[in-house]
Amino acid sequence: MPGGVMHVLALLLAVMLAVCAKNGEAQPNMTITYTLGFLAPTADSAIPASLANEWSSAFNVALEVLNSENRPYTLIPNVQASQCDWQAAERGARAIAFPTVPPVIGVVGPACSGAAMSAARYLMNFNISLVSFSATAEPLSLRELFPNFFRTVYGDMHQAAAVVASMAKLQMQKVTMVLTQSYYSWNFGENVNMLINGSTTVRSVTLGVGDNSSIDATMLGTALDSVESDEFVVLAVEPLQALDIWRAAYGMGKAGYPYWYFGTDGATAFDPADANITDPSMVAELVGEIGVSPFGGDFSSDSVCNKFYSYWQTMNYPGYISDGQNRTRSYVPYLIDAVTAYFTVIDNLIQANITVNAFNVLQAFNGSGPGTPVFEGCTGLVSFDPETGSRNATAQIPIFDFVALNPSYWEAKGEIWNAEFQSLQSLTRPGSGSASLHKSRVGVVVGTLVGLASVLALIVGGTYYYLRKKNSSITRTDSMARMWER
Ligand SMILES: *[C@@H]1O[C@H](CO)[C@@H](O)[C@H](O)[C@H]1NC(C)=O
Ligand SMILES: *[C@@H]1O[C@H](CO)[C@@H](O)[C@H](O)[C@H]1NC(C)=O
Ligand SMILES: *[C@@H]1O[C@H](CO)[C@@H](O)[C@H](O)[C@H]1NC(C)=O
Ligand SMILES: *[C@@H]1O[C@H](CO)[C@@H](O)[C@H](O)[C@H]1NC(C)=O
Ligand SMILES: *[C@@H]1O[C@H](CO)[C@@H](O)[C@H](O)[C@H]1NC(C)=O
Ligand SMILES: *[C@@H]1O[C@H](CO)[C@@H](O)[C@H](O)[C@H]1NC(C)=O
Ligand SMILES: *[C@@H]1O[C@H](CO)[C@@H](O)[C@H](O)[C@H]1NC(C)=O
Ligand SMILES: *[C@@H]1O[C@H](CO)[C@@H](O)[C@H](O)[C@H]1NC(C)=O
Ligand SMILES: *[C@@H]1O[C@H](CO)[C@@H](O)[C@H](O)[C@H]1NC(C)=O
Repeated sequence: MPGGVMHVLALLLAVMLAVCAKNGEAQPNMTITYTLGFLAPTADSAIPASLANEWSSAFNVALEVLNSENRPYTLIPNVQASQCDWQAAERGARAIAFPTVPPVIGVVGPACSGAAMSAARYLMNFNISLVSFSATAEPLSLRELFPNFFRTVYGDMHQAAAVVASMAKLQMQKVTMVLTQSYYSWNFGENVNMLINGSTTVRSVTLGVGDNSSIDATMLGTALDSVESDEFVVLAVEPLQALDIWRAAYGMGKAGYPYWYFGTDGATAFDPADANITDPSMVAELVGEIGVSPFGGDFSSDSVCNKFYSYWQTMNYPGYISDGQNRTRSYVPYLIDAVTAYFTVIDNLIQANITVNAFNVLQAFNGSGPGTPVFEGCTGLVSFDPETGSRNATAQIPIFDFVALNPSYWEAKGEIWNAEFQSLQSLTRPGSGSASLHKSRVGVVVGTLVGLASVLALIVGGTYYYLRKKNSSITRTDSMARMWER
């Protein structure tokens, strides 16, 4: 009898041990945890709710997919609102830096450059790195000011170069550049003015804030009144300002022909299918408008990035790219790569037997300690230039998509690699459907219009360039001073 009991007990024990061992492997509590902060770009006066939702989903998707890949650690999110606002970003950074369990190893975000500046400066007190996916302002590369700032996006000079390349490709001789009173807009305007040469005349108009809109519609109307039919209106503005500009233009009957709008990354991050804020008749009028957008990522079935999008679709998280569209226009792949960069650094530190903490992670990003990340991401080969904290543009040349608006999304029409067009399909000018009067001028725009006008533009352009440059340096110094005084 005693022998029999022993036997049963031994069997039970063996079963229990086996079960425990099995559970032990799958138990998240058995693994080490670190905190990864996310300064989430919540909806505000610059960012529509749909975009905030998309970014929030992208962060969760990246974190959940990478956490599920059998690593000896788990990253726990600490998500704080940052909006597009430097004060909110600093508050968010504080809320991430202070809780110390599990230890913070780094922060992803925020979306906007001003917010990134204040967050980076706050986090530097704790040796915490900040990796943004869409803060593009060039001054963020000043290492004395922002030594802990890194970004998976290219600085605005690269985008400005893509815009200037588009001006040359489309033979834009006259451009009205519409700016708003935001840091992003001022900075970008200056970048374009620095790169442009005499063949395009650029007139810059900085819109004030309206009574019940983010832009002064009367100022816009006055500026548009003098726009000629061969002229382009460049919108160097954030998504909701683009919407407000188009709304006002639509209200004034200036949405379609001859208004040929060309949007920068902010304008093309705006989603025309966002039924909460647009109406189809306005979008119909804008169909055909063009712009540049950061490379929308490679989500094809054999790409390294496909796992994220499959998971996103399976989980039914909001913001998944709509059917038929296979490119995002909103820096989502750069956000996924920012999260991946943190996992890569931690994997590297563990492999090198280096303690995983915020300081060592920062050293790895900076190239001044082991574990420096280099990996194939959703946006190509990701690595950082320690001199600027920005994406290494030699390892992966900057790619911008040239896009045109269709009724539901921005459709790829060409690619610009390192400011050189690789391809460009023919474009149909907005308003071609309605006014038959204009039919003769409609259609393929690429490769037309040369002559006397360009000679005139060369002469006038030099003067404008000088004046603009003077003006924009003043405003920028102003805004930077405000940005940094605390
Ligand atoms: C294990 O972790 C989960 C959250 O990750 C938590 O809810 C749970 O209480 C933990 N269990 C133990 C025994 O610590
Ligand atoms: C539209 O608004 C509703 C209610 O406010 C919100 O739940 C939904 O997420 C919004 N949709 C988009 C695409 O922003
Ligand atoms: C940050 O790192 C420096 C070394 O570069 C160290 O002296 C300092 O104590 C660290 N600060 C914190 C808060 O860890
Ligand atoms: C200036 O414009 C000319 C004519 O479009 C072009 O060939 C040249 O590459 C441009 N230079 C720069 C620096 O963009
Ligand atoms: C702003 O509000 C005023 C009064 O509330 C209204 O008359 C006007 O149409 C509004 N303007 C816009 C652009 O919505
Ligand atoms: C989606 O991608 C495939 C392969 O890259 C391409 O052939 C197709 O035209 C794309 N569809 C859209 C709607 O852009
Ligand atoms: C890390 O530590 C393990 C075990 O302590 C050792 O086997 C391995 O060689 C070490 N790796 C490095 C890169 O030092
Ligand atoms: C980054 O690396 C440079 C060069 O090695 C070094 O001078 C600097 O102190 C490092 N910055 C940080 C924040 O560690
Ligand atoms: C950028 O990447 C290239 C190619 O991978 C490499 O040769 C170069 O050293 C890198 N530059 C910097 C500044 O890290």
